[in-house]
Amino acid sequence: MARPLVDTFGRVHRDLRISVTDRCNFRCTYCMPEEGLEWLDRSEILTFEEIEQIARVMVNTFGVDSIRLTGGEPMVRANLDELVSRLAALGTDVAMTTNGSTLRRHAQLLKDAGLRRINISLDSLQQERFLELTRRDELDTVLDGIDAALEAGFDPVKINCVVMRGVNDDELVDFARFGRDMGVVVRFIEWMPLDADEGWTNDRVVSQKEIVAAISEVFPLEPIQRGHEPAQRFRYLDGIGEVGVIASVTQAFCGDCDRVRLTAEGQFRNCLFAVDEFDLRTLVRNGASDEELAAEIERGVGAKWAGHQIGKVNFIRPHRSMSQIGG
Ligand code: 5AD
Ligand code: SF4
Repeated sequence: MARPLVDTFGRVHRDLRISVTDRCNFRCTYCMPEEGLEWLDRSEILTFEEIEQIARVMVNTFGVDSIRLTGGEPMVRANLDELVSRLAALGTDVAMTTNGSTLRRHAQLLKDAGLRRINISLDSLQQERFLELTRRDELDTVLDGIDAALEAGFDPVKINCVVMRGVNDDELVDFARFGRDMGVVVRFIEWMPLDADEGWTNDRVVSQKEIVAAISEVFPLEPIQRGHEPAQRFRYLDGIGEVGVIASVTQAFCGDCDRVRLTAEGQFRNCLFAVDEFDLRTLVRNGASDEELAAEIERGVGAKWAGHQIGKVNFIRPHRSMSQIGG
C-alpha cells in the first residue's frame, strides 16, 4: 500500500522530475557558459535500471502519479523511448520537458512508448535572437519539432517561454498569437535566479501582472479557476485557446509544491533551490532494498523547507544551474 510522501508542512509529494542527462545540444545563455559545462562521466549517470528502481519506489511506496523527464536535454540520452516505456509500465503519467530540437526524429517513437505530455522550451520567435539566446541557429528546427509533436498527437503541446526584461519581453503578444495560430498552450515563466552567468536581477523579472496586461491589450484574457498546478491559466475572451503564467518569483507556489527531483547522477533534491542533496546513487549501487531507498527519500522530504525566499536576504542561490538540476 502506498503511504504519502509528506513533509513537515503537510505537503504531499506526487510529482517526480528525473534529469536523465546533464548534457545539452544547446547553450542557453541563462543556463550554460558558451563552452558548456563539464559533463558528467558516463559512469556517474544512473542507468535506466537504476532510474527505474528509484521510480518504482516513488510510485509503489509513495503513490507518485506523475514523472517528468528533464535534462540537460533529455533526448540527448540514447534510447530514451526504452526508459519511457519502463516508467509508463509502472502505471504513472510520463511527461518530458525538451528544447524540441530533435522532436522530428523522436516524437512519434516517444508517443508510442507511452509518453503522455510534452513541454517545449522556446524563448524567442526571432531567428537572430534565438541564436543569441541558445547559441544555436536552430529556431526552424524547433518550430518543426513543435509540428512533429502535434502530428504525433500530443495534446496539448505546451511551450515554455522564460520572460526576461530587455531580452524577449517585446515578444509577449507574438507568442500569444503563435499559440493561438498553432493550437499550442504557451506558458510564460518568470525568470528565476538559477542562471549560470549570474545575470539575474530582481528588476529583470517580468511579473505575471505585466505579462497578462501586455497580452490583454491585444487579446483580452480572463483567469481560469486555479487548480493545483503552478501555472495560473487564462482564457482568451474570444474563445480561441488559453495561456498560462508561472509566477515562480512574484507569487511563489511553494505552499502547494508537490515536487521532488532526481538529478542525472542520482542525487535526490527536495526543491529546485535546495542546497542539500540526498545520495540515492550510492544506496542503489550498494544494493539497497526498496524500503531502504524509501527511508532515505522520506529523510530528504522531511528536510524540505517552506519555500525558496527569492528576493529575501536569506535567499541562497543553489550551486547548480538549471541544466544540472533539470527544471
Ligand atoms: N528561470 C526560469 N526558467 C528557467 N529555465 C531555465 N532556466 C530558468 C530560469 N532561470 C527553464 C527552461 C526550460 C525549463 C527546463 O526551465 O527554459 O523551459
Ligand atoms: Fe539546454 Fe535547456 Fe539549458 Fe537551454 S536551458 S542549454 S535547452 S538545458
